[in-house]
Amino acid sequence: MSTAYRTRIAGTGSYLPPGLITNQDIEKMVDTNDQWIVERTGIKHRHKADLGVVTTDLAFQATQKALADAGMTANQLDLIIFATITGDQPTPSSACVLQHKLGISSIPAFDISAACSGFVYSISIADQFIRSGMYKNILVVGAEIITRFVNYKDRDTCILFGDGAGAFIVSRTEANDPNVIFSSHLGAEGSLGDLFVLPAGGSKIPFRQEALDAGEHWFRMKGREIFKNAVRTMSAVCAQALEHNKVTSAEIDWLVPHQANNRILEAVADHFHFPKDKVISIVHEMGNTSAATVPVAFDTAVRDGRIKRGQMVLLTAFGAGLTSGSCLLRY
Ligand code: UT7
Repeated sequence: MSTAYRTRIAGTGSYLPPGLITNQDIEKMVDTNDQWIVERTGIKHRHKADLGVVTTDLAFQATQKALADAGMTANQLDLIIFATITGDQPTPSSACVLQHKLGISSIPAFDISAACSGFVYSISIADQFIRSGMYKNILVVGAEIITRFVNYKDRDTCILFGDGAGAFIVSRTEANDPNVIFSSHLGAEGSLGDLFVLPAGGSKIPFRQEALDAGEHWFRMKGREIFKNAVRTMSAVCAQALEHNKVTSAEIDWLVPHQANNRILEAVADHFHFPKDKVISIVHEMGNTSAATVPVAFDTAVRDGRIKRGQMVLLTAFGAGLTSGSCLLRY
């Protein structure tokens, strides 16, 4: 059943914890150097949450900013969707913990596990709930404390990741509102699941001393393979977004890609002959914050005046799974 309802972005917010891990810090931990990291990834530093701070604390900060931006209070929310792979604990969900921290109750709340694509997956889910008429105001969060799962003796992974949170308030609007989410396209290739894994902590390898001894509680990654698949899958889902909406890349004001590696962002932009100065990249100051990168990059660009109301924005992400997604919207 089609309805007159569409989804607009009512407000955005983000939060990066103050602690920093610089390339110089990493030089002291593993055999690497600032020049290699900057040339191969673009990253100069990442943020790190202090021990004792949990993922929902970062999400709470980002949410408060998003609510203020939307001119709303938490009481007006109908649903919380929380994208994370590094939540406070396996259960209860971080969405339920955040609901309690926001001082509200009753509204449904759940987590989405799609790694770095989690936020784009969650926006797509929120859009369906709003189009169906079921909910009016939805909090969508992407938040990670990924540094707690990174082995700082593994130079393949430890140069890349940082902590952070981003939040959107998405709200019901009328179909004739020009500033809406037009479409989302999602994908997954489970056959490539071994490219990025956190082996322990599930039913396959429960947390036991042997798992800790074998280092199975750290992320493991086949970086080069992920790189190739990231460019391929993000280009594919972006092409789907453009074709579905009969829009050319020249009509897009901003590309907001998952902030994994500057070279990946440039390769995706090149694929569409998209000018680099229209690609939002804050990878140098944040590293890869997984599900948080897209909302943090978007919110940063809104607040520094680059992304303006009425502009066309294409979000895209890829992540472990391998998952991928795109979302075309007019902000
Ligand atoms: O959701 C998943 C998130 N993961 C990602 O997004 C990762 C995507 N992949 C990447 O960003 C890149 O593949 C990396 C930054 C991880 C690696 O860059 P690369 O250009 O693909 O390097 P490589 O793996 O092909 O390695 C090139 C060389 C190798 O040396 P040899 O074999 O040429 O002598 C590596 O041993 O660089 C070496 N190397 C390093 N050197 C200094 C690998 N890591 C490092 C390092 N510092 N940290």
